[in-house]
Amino acid sequence: MNTALVIGVTDGFGLHTATALLATGWRIRALLREPDALPACLHGIDVFTGSSASIDDVRHAAAGVDAIVFGANPPHPRWHAQAVPALDTAAAVAETLGLTLVFPANQQVYDPEDGSVFDESARLHPISRNGSIQQRMESRLELASRRGARIIALRTGDFIGAHSGCGWSGALLKPVRRGYRLLHPGPTGHVHTWANLPDVARTASCLLARREELPGFAAFQFSGYRSSFWQLAEAVSVASGKAVELRPFPRRLLNPLSPAVPLARELGDMRYLWEHDIHLNDDRLRAVLDEVPHTPLPQALIAAGLVVPAVERRLHWSYVQTT
Ligand SMILES: NC(=O)c1ccc[n+]([C@@H]2O[C@H](COP(=O)([O-])OP(=O)(O)OC[C@H]3O[C@@H](n4cnc5c(N)ncnc54)[C@H](OP(=O)(O)O)[C@@H]3O)[C@@H](O)[C@H]2O)c1
Repeated sequence: MNTALVIGVTDGFGLHTATALLATGWRIRALLREPDALPACLHGIDVFTGSSASIDDVRHAAAGVDAIVFGANPPHPRWHAQAVPALDTAAAVAETLGLTLVFPANQQVYDPEDGSVFDESARLHPISRNGSIQQRMESRLELASRRGARIIALRTGDFIGAHSGCGWSGALLKPVRRGYRLLHPGPTGHVHTWANLPDVARTASCLLARREELPGFAAFQFSGYRSSFWQLAEAVSVASGKAVELRPFPRRLLNPLSPAVPLARELGDMRYLWEHDIHLNDDRLRAVLDEVPHTPLPQALIAAGLVVPAVERRLHWSYVQTT
């Protein structure tokens, strides 16, 4: 049986990939700082207590595994200082043990001045602080691949998914009395790239199954949904049966005294991603996998818990009216 060590299993990519791998017969180990934080859906997996910052902890937890799934994502505002060191530890262990490491990368490594459609061979030329760090993380992994690790880097758009801690979708879409409100940080017609986390996780699981056939550093792209805010609003409306109002992202949230200031800073650094279309060409992924997992957007929004489905609302109202 294959075994994967998942770092960052409580949320986001780590949680979804652990779930996807369990469903395909993998054994999962988690490295957790707080063992009590293990999500209920993963009870029964092997838990190692420790920190991803400690090479001894990671080496101990990784002994005998086939792969490391790297889902750790230090919270803002510590992300800039901790993201590369956290990955460095896992990369060093993957090198020495000759393991495959799966890394969820993103589109911030590209420069929109270079065009709007990017494949894996496009030059990496980040134009933001976050993007530069992403590039450093990918460079570190390329180095690891030359030192004996196998790397699978999967570049995606912004995550949509339940337990997606730092996903934008939950910050921009909120239920209101008559339906939903969708905040748009860029023009309503801007086409943004989104990725359904369960689909991304199943894709990572499929790639892991093919790991022996892949090059030492295997970069792939997951094209996901390319949606304008109008299209996203329509998908919310289809899923919920409710009206959706589009509102510009409020300027008051950019106030330095606002409690939402980390979000505002993030928005400033990433503003270009809400103004330029960055389409991730996935031809390479389609050449390797027979089928790329894809859930229709309205279903993905429901599964992510962002939208209550129309049928449930009807049931709720008929219950209220008859009681
Ligand atoms: N979010 C997106 O839209 C998106 C899109 C593309 C790529 N990515 C990439 O995907 C990766 C994971 O992001 P995510 O959004 O899935 O993360 P997330 O939902 O924020 O989850 C972060 C995970 O990292 C763990 N963690 C935080 N700080 C840690 C530390 N210092 N050491 C060990 N674990 C730590 C957390 O564990 P605790 O519960 O213990 O804190 C949690 O399990 C990141 O590299 C991110 O750049 C994200």
